[in-house]
Amino acid sequence: MENIRIPKGDWEWFYKARFGLFIHWGLYSLPARHEWVRSFEEIPDEIYDEKYFGRFEPDLYDPSEWAKLAKKAGMKYVVITTKHHEGFCLFDSKLTDYKATNTPAKRDLIRETVDVFRKEGFRIGFYYSLIDWHHPHFTIDIHHPLRNHPEKEKLNKQRDMSKYREYLHGQIKELLTEYGKIDLLFLDFSYPGPDGKGKDDWDSENLVKLIRKLQPHILINDRLDLEDEWDFKTPEQVVPTSWPEVNGKKVLWESCQTFSGSWGYHRDEATWREPEEIVKTLIDCVSKGGNLLLNVGPTARGEFDYRVRERLEKIGEWMYYHSDSIYNCTQAPEEFKVPENCKLTYNPEKNRLYVHIFSWPYKFLFLEGKSYKERVLYAQLLNDDSEIKIGMPEWYKKQIGEKEGIVLNLPPFRPKVLVPVIELFLK
Ligand code: GLC
Repeated sequence: MENIRIPKGDWEWFYKARFGLFIHWGLYSLPARHEWVRSFEEIPDEIYDEKYFGRFEPDLYDPSEWAKLAKKAGMKYVVITTKHHEGFCLFDSKLTDYKATNTPAKRDLIRETVDVFRKEGFRIGFYYSLIDWHHPHFTIDIHHPLRNHPEKEKLNKQRDMSKYREYLHGQIKELLTEYGKIDLLFLDFSYPGPDGKGKDDWDSENLVKLIRKLQPHILINDRLDLEDEWDFKTPEQVVPTSWPEVNGKKVLWESCQTFSGSWGYHRDEATWREPEEIVKTLIDCVSKGGNLLLNVGPTARGEFDYRVRERLEKIGEWMYYHSDSIYNCTQAPEEFKVPENCKLTYNPEKNRLYVHIFSWPYKFLFLEGKSYKERVLYAQLLNDDSEIKIGMPEWYKKQIGEKEGIVLNLPPFRPKVLVPVIELFLK
C-alpha cells in the first residue's frame, strides 16, 4: 500500500481484524471504583493488600464464556492486562509473590485466558504496565500513591530504579517466552518530565531489542517514549479527525475505548455508552484506516457484568449482518466524496464501497461526484442484500442543479439495524 509507514512486526492481520477486546482485570476490581483507585485515594501497600489481595477469588471466572461473548460481538483479537499500575500480576511470574497464584484464585489466569482465546481463533495481545506502585524500587513520582508522604524524599533514597528496570525486563521476558506466540504488546505508559518517567527509566531501547529478539513478528505500541521504535499508535478514548500520519506517512493505529469511563470494573458508573454509539465509533475508526479496541473490566468474581453482556450482544447482532463493511476494510479512496451524515469504508480486495448511514434520509441519498457516476455498478442493503435502485427523479435533479452524481432510492423506512449500510459494487 502506498504512503503507509510499514511496521516492523506482522501487521496485516491487525489491519484486517479491525475490532478487538481489551480486558482490564486486577485487584482493583474489588474496590470497583477505578483501576487507579490506589493512586486516586493514596492507599498505602499494607491497606490495599490487606483488604484485597487475600480476597481476590474469581469463582465465576470462565474464559471460554469471555471468548464466546467476544466472538459473538465480532472481535478478532484480545489484549489482556497481565499487570496494571497497581503491580499485581495475573500471571505466575517467578520474580514476585504479588500474583494471582498466591491469592484465593490460586492459578495463572493469563495462561488459562490465553489458551482459551487462542483455541477460539483470537490473536493474542498482552498489556503490561511500565508503572508499578507495588514494587519497592519503583521511585515515588507524580502518580504514585505515596506522592504526598511526608518522608517521600527519604523513601526514594532507598529505592533503586535499576532494580525495578531489571524486574520489568525480566517479566517481559517471562511473558514472551512462557505463553507461546504473542501477537501484540501494549506497554503502558510514559510521562517524561521532572517528576515523571520515560525511556531512560524503562531502558526502552534495550527493552524493544529484547522484545523483537524474543518475538520478531510482534507488534509494539507507542507508549515507550521512543520516537521511532513503535508499530502502532494508540489514541485513547478518542477517534482522530483523520488517519494519523507521521512524517507524511499513514500509520497503523487503534483507538482504545471504554464503555463507561474507567477501564477496571466500576460498579457505580452510570455513563454507559449505548451499542449504537459503539458501532458508530467502530465504523468511524475503520473509515480512517484504524481499529477499535473495546474494553471490558470483568468483576472481581470474574464475570462480564450484565451491562457488558447486553451491549456486546447488540453489537454482535449488528456485526452478524454487517461485518463485511468492517473486516478487511479501510478508508475509501479519496475520489469518493463522503455523503452527508454518512461514513464510508472500502474493501480493496472486493472493490466494494460501504456507505454507513448515521441518519436515515427520507427516500433519497445523493452521492456526489463523477466517481460515483462512473464507477458504481450496483447497490444493495448489506443486511439483506435487497437491491437499492439507482436513479435520479426529475424533482431531485432540479434541486441539485449542475452537480454530478447518483441518487440511491432508499426504502422510506429505516431498516431495523443500529446503523444501516449500503454496499456499492464498483467498476
Ligand atoms: C491509561 C491508564 C490506564 C489504562 C490505559 C488504557 O494509560 O493509565 O488505566 O489502562 O490507559 O489505554
